[in-house]
Amino acid sequence: MSGNITFTMIKPCAVKNNFIGPILKMINEKGFRIKAIKMTRFSRERAEAFYGIHAGKFFFEELVEFMSSGPIIAAILEKENAIDDFRDLIGNTNPEKAAEGTIRKLFAESFTANAIHGADSDENALREGSFFFSEMEQY
Ligand code: GTP
Ligand code: MG
Repeated sequence: MSGNITFTMIKPCAVKNNFIGPILKMINEKGFRIKAIKMTRFSRERAEAFYGIHAGKFFFEELVEFMSSGPIIAAILEKENAIDDFRDLIGNTNPEKAAEGTIRKLFAESFTANAIHGADSDENALREGSFFFSEMEQY
């Protein structure tokens, strides 16, 4: 059982394809409350810092390039068992493996352009949330 906070980003591909509305609807219907939300854009440097854990991996350059290619929606979400329930909702990282009815199955284009991010631990959810939002921007 995870804690009650997670962090998400609707990625540049999904913003460009006008999927913000349908994705937020699915998040809402799953029972998440929005604590903080904004449209913003990663600079290259900020994307490299956010994904620092993947530095040196074969997909890192493509990931940083893609995540800084256009605006995103960043949000902090609240719900009981937030991390696990949110990752169930978004589905497998590889859209070809994502289950029916998941956000990635519905909206992802590829392994890189996979529509949405979900934090993978309580600790990372807090770290990633504070990467984008000050205390005063969280309600
Ligand atoms: P996020 O919610 O985006 O963090 O995805 P994840 O937690 O399911 O995956 P992970 O944190 O391991 O990787 C971050 C991102 O790097 C993924 O969303 C993918 O876009 C990309 N990525 C990870 N592994 C691979 C891979 O093997 N190939 C490619 N092309 N991209 C990958
Ligand atoms: Mg991850």
